Amino acid sequence: MRPHRVRTVRRLARAVVAASAAVATLAFGLTTTSQAANPTLREAAEPTGRFIGTAVNDGLLSNSTYRNIASTEFSSVTAENAMKWESVEPQRGQFNWAGADRLVQFAQQNDQLVYGHTLVWHSQMPDWLENGSFSNSELRTIMTDHVTTQVSRYRGQIPRWDVVNEAFNEDGTFRQSKFYQQLGESYIADSFRAAHAADPSAKLFINDYNVEGVNAKSDGLYRLVQRLLDQGVPIHGVGLQSHLIVGQVPGTLQQNIQRFANLGLEVVITELDIRMQMPADSSKLQRQAQDYRAVANACLAVDGCTGITVWGISDRDSWVPDVFEGQGAACPYDENYQPKPAYEALRAAFVEAGGGDPGDPGDPGDPGTGSCTAVFTVSNRWSTGSVVSVSVRTTQALNTWRVEFDLPSGVTVASGWNGGFSQSGSRVTVTNAPYNGTVSAGGTLSFGFQTSGGAAQDGTAVSLGGQRCAAG
Ligand code: XIL
Repeated sequence: MRPHRVRTVRRLARAVVAASAAVATLAFGLTTTSQAANPTLREAAEPTGRFIGTAVNDGLLSNSTYRNIASTEFSSVTAENAMKWESVEPQRGQFNWAGADRLVQFAQQNDQLVYGHTLVWHSQMPDWLENGSFSNSELRTIMTDHVTTQVSRYRGQIPRWDVVNEAFNEDGTFRQSKFYQQLGESYIADSFRAAHAADPSAKLFINDYNVEGVNAKSDGLYRLVQRLLDQGVPIHGVGLQSHLIVGQVPGTLQQNIQRFANLGLEVVITELDIRMQMPADSSKLQRQAQDYRAVANACLAVDGCTGITVWGISDRDSWVPDVFEGQGAACPYDENYQPKPAYEALRAAFVEAGGGDPGDPGDPGDPGTGSCTAVFTVSNRWSTGSVVSVSVRTTQALNTWRVEFDLPSGVTVASGWNGGFSQSGSRVTVTNAPYNGTVSAGGTLSFGFQTSGGAAQDGTAVSLGGQRCAAG
């Protein structure tokens, strides 16, 4: 789908960026976070041609940490609530665009896409609509007027819209929403036609949850989309919300994305979060990282899958604990806005798909950059495992850190402490725990872990922020 030449040029451009970052490192000797070795999510996603988005709660944009992460890490934003019907038209005929406008303006300032969410949905309708009674023809007009008004307002500024949200029951039949009950299936085609007339350049999506794998619900969605295409209805994409549970990424995710893409549609992972039973622990967080990576890989493997949006930046702001009792920790950042293993996994998936190396601890013969010194000590070993402690001294102050190293083939991290651990093949990535991300210049960070499947090796090469450390 994307011309090969564009990718080659982008790769070249990346190589140039990488080379100049390396020169800067040599010249000034002060980077542990060079752009090439430690890209942001949006930098990592860019060469893949995909966007990486987040749901944004516009009320939190006044928090500088939140705002910073939203603008630097993501190339697309979705309004978590500000573009829903109850937000934009709380009284009939009285529009309030303040929150929606704020988000669009934020996106424009930060060179981001806006993913429009959402126009026709049974939930979060204003009271006057939810509780009002209207004749069928009146309801149809209310619905198409709403679509027309909202899409027109942002004509040319919002390239993708979720036109219809959550139209299905779990068995693949239509949900008995107000719209379906009164207007029948045609409410869907009419909404898409109104949206297309209001902004012919916008790509129009139907979005739902529990349709990530091949199942009865996604089969129903698939059949609907086929019918709409046959009727010439302007539909261009399918949104897979992807509110998932740790350990339960559907095995048929890629196959499902592919079958929609084969209809000529775009597919977007629109609301990714992966929740767990609380409290979180390091093994759940590692499993979550694998799951994030699996979802990203499924999208990245299919040309028509054009982006991934996570539903919230941090566990502090996520909708999950309010809705799923006892569950949480579903986002890529923790409650303190520190990146979790899930963040690293997402980034590594993009880096790899973009043709980069997800961070190389370096050849043990390399001299190291001089900005860090690492001691990798195996304090106890037996035939099937070992206990390791790692300490890294940094010449620069850090607010967060990421340490990487390779274990011998077949050896895995069984449990770890003082860090968040994820492993892909032999590569282990450790990020700071919520309480030990801050290290002063000349200070030392440390963590430890136990292996299974064999023992680690004393003196294993270690990198900090993608830069090889000298052995200490
Ligand atoms: C959620 C928001 O995150 C919450 O803040 C709000 O209270 C309820 O809606 N599917 C969707 C999203 O399409 O709009 C929902 O967002 C999550 C489920």
